[in-house]
Amino acid sequence: MGDIKQFLVPWADDISVYSTDDLLSAWADPEIGRMMLNENPLGPSERVIKAVQEAARLGNRYPDTGPRLREKIGRFYGLGPDNVYLGNGSSEMIDNIMRLFVAPGDEVIVPNPAFSLFKVRATTVGGKPILIDMKRNPEGGLQYDAQAMLKAITPRTKLFIICTPNNPSGDFIPEKDLIRFLDTGIPVFIDEAYLEYHPEHPSYAPLITKYPDNAMVSRTMSKAFGMAGIRFGYLLASEKMIGYLRKIQLPWSLGLLSLAAGEAAWDEREEELKGKVEFNRREINYIWEELSGIDGLHPFYSYGNYILVDPGETGVEGNEVVDYVFRETKIMIKAYPLPGGKEGFRLSLGTQEQNRACVDAIRKFFRTRS
Ligand SMILES: Cc1ncc(COP(=O)(O)O)c(C=O)c1O
Repeated sequence: MGDIKQFLVPWADDISVYSTDDLLSAWADPEIGRMMLNENPLGPSERVIKAVQEAARLGNRYPDTGPRLREKIGRFYGLGPDNVYLGNGSSEMIDNIMRLFVAPGDEVIVPNPAFSLFKVRATTVGGKPILIDMKRNPEGGLQYDAQAMLKAITPRTKLFIICTPNNPSGDFIPEKDLIRFLDTGIPVFIDEAYLEYHPEHPSYAPLITKYPDNAMVSRTMSKAFGMAGIRFGYLLASEKMIGYLRKIQLPWSLGLLSLAAGEAAWDEREEELKGKVEFNRREINYIWEELSGIDGLHPFYSYGNYILVDPGETGVEGNEVVDYVFRETKIMIKAYPLPGGKEGFRLSLGTQEQNRACVDAIRKFFRTRS
C-alpha cells in the first residue's frame, strides 16, 4: 500500500479548517444559547417560509441562475442582471474568488482580526494568507492599517480582503483607504455581510463601475435577514468578472428553496428589515454600554451584530470568559485572537433575555476576580 500523501495536493497538510464544532453542540442541545456565530436571533418571515414551502413542490427540478432576482437586485444598485452572481451564502463567494485568483504559493492580504474563512479558503487552494494587524484609531476602535497592507504587496499578491463593517472589530473602512487598495489594480474583495444593519452607510457597490477589473462586493442574507441556515448570498461585479466566476461556479450551487427564499426576502426587505435592524441596534448599544462599564474591559463599538472585547489589562484570556459564561448561562460565545497575540472574546446578538444573561455573567466573572 502506498502512502496517500503521494496523491494529495502538495499543500494538503497546510490547509486550515473552519471549525463548526460549536454547531454540533448547539444543534444537539436546543437549550444552548447561540451567541457565538453572528446569527440573527430573529428568524425568517412567514412569507419567506411560505415561499420555501411552495418551491419545495418543484423540488424535482434543477434551479436556474435566478435571472429575475438578478435583474431586481441589479436594478437596485443601478446595475444589470449580469453584474449579479447568486450563490450559497457569501461563503461561496469567498471560496470562488480564491479559486479564481489564487494559485499555489500566491498571497492574499487579509486584515487581522477577520472572519477566519478568508484564511481557511486561501489555504485550500494552496494560497498564503498574509495577515496584517489592524491598528487602534484615536477613538479606541480597530481600523485597517492601509499603509501596512500596501507595504505587504509582493509580485505574488493576488487579492486584498476587506470586510466592512469588519467582523469582528465592527468598524467600516473609510472610502479613501479602500480607494488606495483599488488603485493598485489588485483584485479587492469587499465583504459587506453586515451592511444591512446600518442602511445609513452607503454600499461600496458603485465602485465596481469605476473599478470594473478589480472591485467585487459581496452581500448575504445570513445576517440582518436572519437566513443563515437557508443560505443565500450574492456578489456584485463587472460583467467580465461575473463571467469568470460563472465559469467556476458549481452548477446549482444555489438550491431552488434558497433561491425562492432569497426572492421573497428581497421583495419584502423594506418592511421586514426595519424591525430586525432596530432590535439589533438597541441590543448592541445595550451590550456595548454595559461592557464598557466593566473595569479594564475594552469592547469595540460595532456596526454589525457582534461585539469584540479586549480584556485589556485584566490579564484574562478570552477562553476563560467563554468557559465561565457557558457554565453560568449555557450560552456560547467565542474566543478571538486580537492583534498583538492577545486573546479576546466576541459575543454576537442573542434574544433580549440571553443578552442580559450573558452581560450579567461577564460582569460577575470580572467582579469575582477583582
Ligand atoms: C464577514 C463575513 N463574511 C461572510 C460570512 C459568511 O456568511 P454566509 O452565511 O453568507 O456564507 C460571515 C459569517 O459569519 C462573515 O462574518
